Amino acid sequence: MHARAVAASTTALLGAAAFLLPFTPARAADHGGPRPVIADAGIPRPVIVDHGTAHPVIVAHRGASAYAPENTLAAVDKAAALGAEWVENDVQRTRDGELVVLHDDSLQRTTDVEEVYPDRAPWKVKDFTAAEIARLDAGSWFDPAYAGARVPTLEQFVHRVERNDQKLLLELKNPQLYPGIEGETLEVLSNEGWLDDRHVRNRLVVQSFSADSVRTVHDLKPAVKTGFLGTPPVADLPSYATFTDQINPSHGSLSTPYVAAIHGFRGPHGQPMEVLTWTVNDAAAARRVAGFGVDGIITNTPDVVRDAVGG
Ligand code: G3P
Ligand code: CA
Repeated sequence: MHARAVAASTTALLGAAAFLLPFTPARAADHGGPRPVIADAGIPRPVIVDHGTAHPVIVAHRGASAYAPENTLAAVDKAAALGAEWVENDVQRTRDGELVVLHDDSLQRTTDVEEVYPDRAPWKVKDFTAAEIARLDAGSWFDPAYAGARVPTLEQFVHRVERNDQKLLLELKNPQLYPGIEGETLEVLSNEGWLDDRHVRNRLVVQSFSADSVRTVHDLKPAVKTGFLGTPPVADLPSYATFTDQINPSHGSLSTPYVAAIHGFRGPHGQPMEVLTWTVNDAAAARRVAGFGVDGIITNTPDVVRDAVGG
């Protein structure tokens, strides 16, 4: 994924620079990765980047989840049918250690678990085995037409994304509940051939709301592109730039200067950090965030966003 935002404002970057804290790029250097841009005095120096005027990439959130049950293979296929280049998902872990794709930490909202296992409230993912989860219907809650859709394993999900020639924005969801999930996720991706050059260069990003988790992924496999979900203060961006390639904020918290400030730092792979924003489902909001210069838009309605901003 390449940065595609409008030209960063020199004024905004200089303004952002006024808030920057002293910073030592020890962690990036430890891993042999490119160092963030550092001024002689140890103060980060923003880069001025012309991102051009290309359209933001479109990421189908939990698949095309406005039109098919979220995080199912049907939602991946629907995203492909709508021309979405990227698919986002949420990865968690079962009681017996299988990685599965589901957003909530409970199975209650998006499956028929209450009917199938009435005595197992609160139906946490971590309390069920993979075989038990495989019995659940993950489609009927959304629309009877999707009855029989299953909660996919990460392996199944990755297979489908590969088959569709799509790209994967993988979220480690609730990683505090699943110690070690970072390494396990990388192991599945490796087994599926997703850590080769072709995939890590431009087909895979691993993101999380947990900065610790993102940093762990970077430490374990520095070649993998990473994203932090949130809106860190500009003053903290230099330290984020040592382990994350993307800062991915909620669209309500965005502004042109903030996007420009993020673009002003190089991430661990030596490229300007990127901004993917979520969850943008209508044309007006899509045009607004595209105007801020974001690199990508994460959406339940990839067709609506594409029609609004191109791509
Ligand atoms: O990819 C961004 C977005 O998915 C983060 O929020 O709650 O939908 O996982 P959530
Ligand atoms: Ca998510």
